[in-house]
Amino acid sequence: MSILKIAKFGHPILLKKTQEVKDIGSEKIKKIIYDMSETMLDYNGVGLAAPQVHINKSIFVFRNPENLKQDSNIEVSAIINPTIEKIGDEKNDDWEGCLSIPNMLGLVRRFSEIQYTGYDIFGNKLQVKAKGLHARIIQHEFDHLKGVLYTKRLAHRDAFGFENEIERYWKKKENEKK
Ligand code: NI
Repeated sequence: MSILKIAKFGHPILLKKTQEVKDIGSEKIKKIIYDMSETMLDYNGVGLAAPQVHINKSIFVFRNPENLKQDSNIEVSAIINPTIEKIGDEKNDDWEGCLSIPNMLGLVRRFSEIQYTGYDIFGNKLQVKAKGLHARIIQHEFDHLKGVLYTKRLAHRDAFGFENEIERYWKKKENEKK
């Protein structure tokens, strides 16, 4: 396995639509997924999409927050050729970061509940319902496969900045309101 170089905000590959994977389950695709998983964990991310490591394919890996709570074992899931559908119209706003936009956060509006499909690393078809942080991660990573970064989905035009300033000026304000 190897740690891959991450494309940063401004790199054109982050704005391109990805290609569907035809050889699901092949050694080549498995290797890409193992490398992406290792890269995501090394950077301490919760999700990573193939374009972020300069690979123009419809694949992302993520850590399911529901599994994270249960034990300290870090379980990484891979989704190939995903589709996504909202369940209901409810949306919510929360802060997101991205390994391609280091040290920054944006307040992003996402659907609260979704259903997604795709294939796992072995080629098994998946159909999963997700809500909360799980649903948010999937929507963020799915967007990467469409060439969309979270900066395009800000809940508020000004709600974007460096982590430390967001913590100091935005999150503090939010907490005071509570
Ligand atoms: Ni991202």
